[in-house]
Amino acid sequence: MNRESFAAGERLVSPAYVRQGCEARRSHEHLIRLLLEKGKCPEDGWDESTLELFLHELAIMDSNNFLGNCGVGEREGRVASSLVARRHYSFCPIFLLRFIHGIGRSGDIAAVQPKAAGSSLLNKITNSLVLDIIKLAGVHTVANCFVVPMATGMSLTLCFLTLRHKRPKAKYIIWPRIDQKSCFKSMITAGFEPVVIENVLEGDELRTDLKAVEAKVQELGPDNVLCIHSTTSCFAPRVPDRLEELAVICANYDIPHIVNNAYGVQSSKCMHLIQQGARVGRIDAFVQSLDKNFMVPVGGAVIAGFNDAFIQEISKMYPGRASASPSLDILITLLSLGSNGYKKLLKERKEMFSYLSNQLKKLSEAYNERLLHTPHNPISLAVTLKTLEEYHDKAVTQLGSMLFTRQVSGARVVPLGSMQTVSGYTFRGFMSHTNNYPCAYLNAASAIGMKMQDVDLFIKRLDKCLKTVRKVQNEDSDVSGVDNYDKTEDVDIEETALKLDNVLLNTYKDASS
Ligand SMILES: Cc1ncc(COP(=O)(O)O)c(C=O)c1O
Repeated sequence: MNRESFAAGERLVSPAYVRQGCEARRSHEHLIRLLLEKGKCPEDGWDESTLELFLHELAIMDSNNFLGNCGVGEREGRVASSLVARRHYSFCPIFLLRFIHGIGRSGDIAAVQPKAAGSSLLNKITNSLVLDIIKLAGVHTVANCFVVPMATGMSLTLCFLTLRHKRPKAKYIIWPRIDQKSCFKSMITAGFEPVVIENVLEGDELRTDLKAVEAKVQELGPDNVLCIHSTTSCFAPRVPDRLEELAVICANYDIPHIVNNAYGVQSSKCMHLIQQGARVGRIDAFVQSLDKNFMVPVGGAVIAGFNDAFIQEISKMYPGRASASPSLDILITLLSLGSNGYKKLLKERKEMFSYLSNQLKKLSEAYNERLLHTPHNPISLAVTLKTLEEYHDKAVTQLGSMLFTRQVSGARVVPLGSMQTVSGYTFRGFMSHTNNYPCAYLNAASAIGMKMQDVDLFIKRLDKCLKTVRKVQNEDSDVSGVDNYDKTEDVDIEETALKLDNVLLNTYKDASS
């Protein structure tokens, strides 16, 4: 209600009460005004009523929600199903306000859509908030960013396609190996030839081979190289690339540098590497996933960089309009968390990393295994599976199945020597980021939102699985281990899992006898 409406209301209800109500509304509006004026994430998260008021005000500005709208075009924001309409933001069951027009115009995903002033405002304010959060997370000198409704792989493709126009001769992308398919395919889909640089083993860690990168640049000729495509967040024992040194090579040879920071916003170390790389050398863009860093559904990424004009070029490269859903999800999330809420999540993640690391160390030692020493990886950990590997070549994958049947998701077992062909390229030792890692291992990660209960349950279930495998190994002897597994928990899961374990364990016992 506006001033006139409140004045009219004073004729019906005591003016003192109306004024009080008006003040209450003003406090919500004050938060909205601050947001629009500053374009920064509020320190304290908003309550849902302020959020709904804000979204309501935005939605009402879009032409599909105009009371007297008469659409005669081919894209008028019509939606057949009210369920679909509700999915696209509508909190009022009678008057359905929706964000239907999406974001962008045919020529630029960041452009204002004349039919949808509210969605356009939503898009601009979301990008501004995300920029603020990227700074808060450690990349203080980032110049621009935008949310794109595609996951990380496709967003990397968009960056490579933008560079194509600047470097018409280039057909290679130099890529320190990381065994993850979407980032590899991002280069193939963009039409480039990935030049894979094998990692070097330093202690337990797999690290960037800088000499090999530089030698490859010289061999191919800098003009023939589209960019160096490096990675921060990755599975241990690989660790984030040596970003500063790669950025210096890029600056020296005048080659662009695109960083895959898929789930690195949640780690101050990954963000620091990007900041330092840009300070001492060259980073053109860095790409991060929305779901993995901000706890929203899959479907969006953020493309960010230090040169405003280049980031705008990438947004202009996107052909056509786009879904507003990922932008709306991240906007609601950041406004409800506030910067303090997000910082708290980052802090808790770091604490969980230490906790997970300690628990894995204890458990692995109880089974004569070892937590790999990977101090440069701030998110992922790896535990050797040497005893399993020595016992039977299928025991490592068997452990993976056992964890899966116990509903443990996210942990991955990496056996030795698996071959995998991705888009015509064959990788030896696939998943381990190198041809011949010295041993098989198991990965687990401490990602944003993880709770102590998740770690405890994982450790209990892993303990149980290792114990079962050990039991088969030493059928006649007593089984040791750290069996703190609470049998009253997960009784149903455990019964099913045990049946499956027996089938699988017997299969490979039969095969080896
Ligand atoms: C290094 C790396 N790059 C990219 C991705 C994800 O790509 P997308 O968001 O396209 O699925 C992941 C997924 O975990 C990853 O680990």
